[in-house]
Amino acid sequence: MALYALGDLHLSFQAGKPMDAFGKVWKHHEAKIEKYVNQVVKPEDTLVLTGDHSWGRKLSECREDLNFIEKLPGKKILLRGNHDMFWDAKKTTRLNEEFEGKLFFLQNNFAVYKDYALVGTKGYTFEGPFYLNRRGNVVGWDEEREKQAEKLVSREMTRLRESFHLAEKAGYKKFIMFLHYPPTNIIEETSPFTEIAREYGVTAVVYSHCHGEQRFGDSIRGNFHGIRYMLVSGDYLNFHPALVLS
Ligand SMILES: [Fe+2]
Repeated sequence: MALYALGDLHLSFQAGKPMDAFGKVWKHHEAKIEKYVNQVVKPEDTLVLTGDHSWGRKLSECREDLNFIEKLPGKKILLRGNHDMFWDAKKTTRLNEEFEGKLFFLQNNFAVYKDYALVGTKGYTFEGPFYLNRRGNVVGWDEEREKQAEKLVSREMTRLRESFHLAEKAGYKKFIMFLHYPPTNIIEETSPFTEIAREYGVTAVVYSHCHGEQRFGDSIRGNFHGIRYMLVSGDYLNFHPALVLS
């Protein structure tokens, strides 16, 4: 039994938005997802997909994409990404009712893997614009956007706290935390997300959203404060699911 994660599938079976324009790694990426996930994930395993599942703007435009995910092996747990327009956070219960036994939508709730609670939310991080000097060092940023970002971070933190709270109330003491956005931006060393990970002593923080080689290093990878930080963007992993726990 193992726990895997992979993010940013950006499927487009209905929405007609092929990803080929974003580079070689995205060519026939859905075929790679199907192949690589089937190579490692067993029916008894759990696979967390960390958001940006589909380009469809509403559920009816995502059916084939979700159907593709359903057919992948293992227990599938989905997190909200910034492009998942079909998923209104307030309607998560409705989605979980409709897809019961097929897909689990992780939002203001938690899932279980062995004695771990899997908690998560989309997250948010201020992505600029940052102003750089000639050496490429950050010398300023858009303060209005930063203020807006603070509001979004705070809303996401409330949602994440609820997940932790519910899991704790149910008796769980070990946690894996999932985010769609990276936990910190390019100028932060810590953030409310790294702080809550520390507060609950999570084993790992798993996130995606960063695409392209220049962005892969935007946030924390590896060990920080005794917690393992894992970037699982599809293109970063060439669509091989990452092993979180075995
Ligand atoms: Fe994203």
